[in-house]
Amino acid sequence: MNEKNSRRASVIGTLLFFITIGVIVSSAIVIYDAVEDACDGNRAVIAGVILAVIIVLSAVCTIIDVIRRRLTIDKPVQRILEATNKIAAGDFSARLEITHRVSRYDEFDYIMENLNKMAAELSRTEVLHTDFISNVSHEIKTPLAVIQNYAASLQNKNLDEATRNKYAQTLESAAKRLTALITNILKLNKLENQEIKPGNELINLTEALAETVLGYEDLIESKGLELDCDFDDDVKIYSSPAYLEIVWNNLLSNAVKFTDSGKISISLKNENGHAVVKITDTGCGITAETGKHIFEKFYQGDTSHSQEGNGLGLALVKKVIDINGGTIDVNSEAGKGTTFTIRLKTGVRQ
Ligand SMILES: Nc1ncnc2c1ncn2[C@@H]1O[C@H](COP(=O)(O)OP(=O)(O)O)[C@@H](O)[C@H]1O
Ligand SMILES: [Mg+2]
Repeated sequence: MNEKNSRRASVIGTLLFFITIGVIVSSAIVIYDAVEDACDGNRAVIAGVILAVIIVLSAVCTIIDVIRRRLTIDKPVQRILEATNKIAAGDFSARLEITHRVSRYDEFDYIMENLNKMAAELSRTEVLHTDFISNVSHEIKTPLAVIQNYAASLQNKNLDEATRNKYAQTLESAAKRLTALITNILKLNKLENQEIKPGNELINLTEALAETVLGYEDLIESKGLELDCDFDDDVKIYSSPAYLEIVWNNLLSNAVKFTDSGKISISLKNENGHAVVKITDTGCGITAETGKHIFEKFYQGDTSHSQEGNGLGLALVKKVIDINGGTIDVNSEAGKGTTFTIRLKTGVRQ
């Protein structure tokens, strides 16, 4: 709210009031002089004339004031009312046109500006909501169709053992994909809809990270990738182990998933009161355009769904990092590889 503009408006209003009174009083004095001689000093007539003049002048001032109010108060209030009625009825496209320059904004202009912002936010949330539902439906439909088809095929009694096994494995992986999707949606929903505190457990990040990396060793080896770890000793932070697991698991699984040859490097450093984790891969990398969207829900760089995943991983990671008051940066070059850098404060109880 611009207090200067509001103070200026109130000073102008007070000045106008006194000027009006002054004009009426001085007009009365001038008229007194003019009619005194004409009426031979008849006081009753003089008083009558002055009263009539004051009434006419007051009426003119009142009419001017009514017009001023119509234009400066009633009209904007009416416009605001119409817009709020539309918004209340669910039309979030309603916007109010602000005619003043920003430097001349009055209270109504600020109300209109805030209303425009609220309507824009509401329509953005509505789009996100609709997109979310259509994304979830789409992601659920694909594995469900696989389950339906393969379950039907499995009922064929003439299937040989090998084919039967292959179908059963496909069924299992579709069911796993569904479970992963639902687990991620529930986690994200929990992180977004509740006031989650970052957690106050003292975690030895060095140990926690080493343990998580251990879980990926087989996978990394099976893809013929090198693994390089460089951890400072006993880096400790206050947080929630379950939430931090989400971060390391998603970043590591992405690094392995998007890297066909080369190396995965993980480093943990204690730098100026911050735990700095870098996860670097020599994989396909991320183009600048893809980089703009990777933290959005359901966004996948490769829309063909040839890789596992549902595009919720990095959205979850970002949410957890935000809750912990940390930062996440990505540095990537298409075709060369990617580095995700996470910074979290050490030794600070949230
Ligand atoms: N290490 C990486 N290398 C290349 N691309 C990546 C990497 N990590 C994330 N991405 C890109 O970001 C997108 C979003 O990641 P994520 O939210 O984890 O979804 P998902 O792994 O399910 O595709 C991925 O689809 C991919 O395009
Ligand atoms: Mg992922």
